[in-house]
Amino acid sequence: MKNCKRPEDLRSHRWLGVDDMRSFGHRSRLRGIGYDAGDWQGKPVIGIINTWSEINPCHAHLRARADNVKRGVLQAGGFPLELPAMSLSETFVKPSAMLYRNMLAMETEELLRSHPLDGAVLMGGCDKTTPGLLMGAISMGIPAIYIPAGPMLRGNWNGQYLGSGSDVWKYWTEKRAGNISEEEWSEIEGGIARSFGTCMVMGTAATMMAITEALGMSLPGASSIPAADSNHPRMCGVAGRRIVDMVWEDLTPAKILTAAAFDNAIKVHMAMGGSTNAIIHVVAMARRAGIPVDMERFDQLSRQIPVLANVRPSGQYLMEDFFYAGGLRAMMQNLREKLDLTCLTVTGKSVGENIEGAKVHIPDVIHSLNDPVYAEGATAVLKGNLAPQGCVIKPAAADKRFLKHRGKVIAFEDYNHMMREIERDDLDVTPDHILVLKNAGPKGGPGMPEWGMLPIPKRLLGQGVRDMIRISDGRMSGTSYGACILHVAPESFVGGPLAFVQTGDEIEVDVDKRLIHLHVSDDELARRKAAWTPPAPRYPRGYGALYSEHIGQADEGCDFDFLAPLGRIPEPEIH
Ligand code: FES
Repeated sequence: MKNCKRPEDLRSHRWLGVDDMRSFGHRSRLRGIGYDAGDWQGKPVIGIINTWSEINPCHAHLRARADNVKRGVLQAGGFPLELPAMSLSETFVKPSAMLYRNMLAMETEELLRSHPLDGAVLMGGCDKTTPGLLMGAISMGIPAIYIPAGPMLRGNWNGQYLGSGSDVWKYWTEKRAGNISEEEWSEIEGGIARSFGTCMVMGTAATMMAITEALGMSLPGASSIPAADSNHPRMCGVAGRRIVDMVWEDLTPAKILTAAAFDNAIKVHMAMGGSTNAIIHVVAMARRAGIPVDMERFDQLSRQIPVLANVRPSGQYLMEDFFYAGGLRAMMQNLREKLDLTCLTVTGKSVGENIEGAKVHIPDVIHSLNDPVYAEGATAVLKGNLAPQGCVIKPAAADKRFLKHRGKVIAFEDYNHMMREIERDDLDVTPDHILVLKNAGPKGGPGMPEWGMLPIPKRLLGQGVRDMIRISDGRMSGTSYGACILHVAPESFVGGPLAFVQTGDEIEVDVDKRLIHLHVSDDELARRKAAWTPPAPRYPRGYGALYSEHIGQADEGCDFDFLAPLGRIPEPEIH
């Protein structure tokens, strides 16, 4: 691409290049820490927004990887500066990392805006960090490239490969059923996470990293590289070199993130058998980019795109296998006829050019359109009187008999109520019952915790039951599976119909017809609504209170109402 900027056009020039008292201050402080004019003069300043922290095992390598990025930036004639951002470990952050996704988005946007930066390298990977970084960078609008942390190596136990999350749920269920000993459970604990990096199944992290690559915001092939593979630091160096050129070319997210690019990303999501969480994040990112994407669009495209990636939890293999099979470039090559190959990417080239020559090496891991893993896409959006604004299910990961089902409800008022009841030996439950969990939504959780894969009641475990319909306004981990209906909108906490479901009601689900229906008359629902008292806000002060006041519903992407709107924010005054 052609350079469109001169050194005096750089944003950082306002801080560093002019002759006034404030610029004197900026330069003197940089000199005070060992830089001199040769480091910055006439060069793009590249902010490396790094979500590394010692409490985030998914990002444990990103501190070292930032040095690889810096090497690339310096080689290309830029001036790299690393800025830490909130790390958001999915494992450790409570009550839910989702509560803080928007905080990271705000932090990213304001870090980029308030500092003398011309371009950004965004380093993340664990579930909420990818959308958080992207949302902030999209709103700020300077050239940005995303570096995915990459998945962990395969887990290993007893001669079997273990997948993070998916096999935790599986073996925890077997332990509750008395089929796994304490010793075996401890061995699994020691074998399931073999390295730094993100979860290595097609969870939210792998899904969002792939979606970001499909959008054109990271280097081709980057999202599939295992964190511990030497390709990873090499990819970081290339990204460092590339962002400098992107600044000169003025290749901003707005030029990459078109409606066609979002369609490509959703199609890749479907072909990957991706996480349901991605729907919320993609809707939020698209709204930041001013592109109208809603849940309906996911449903339309899911009917056109089959699942090609044979990766857990919908398939058999793990992300390391997916990389050896050719990675995302190869899968996009198989999906080629369904994609818009003209979309522009961070390379300055089109999607079609980026995937040219990519080959599938292991056809059982990356299937073809003629021989898919699952004929329709990963996610279906249901609507009906129980979810007027929609809800989602992952049919590929559910027992097929539940895709058309009518059953009696057992309703739980909140998570603690559910956990008490589920362990009761005398719970009056059959495999045909439908479990309903309330108050797990954006405001009710708060933060939409991943409680949507409700445990199978203990009484049924001994009978060998491993799947049931479970409905909630919460989310589930991308590593989870089962007939879980999630993201019911509007949520129960704000008086959505889910709030009025009672034990003994009947619910009908028909995935083919995209229907979810509560068999309770409108009059009876109105009576229950009139008798309902809204719950008190969960947080009296602080970020939680701000969150509860401004958070949107799942179908809107759970963004803050004051962050989502478009509109130009002025550059900071420098005086
Ligand atoms: Fe970080 Fe799963 S815990 S990606």
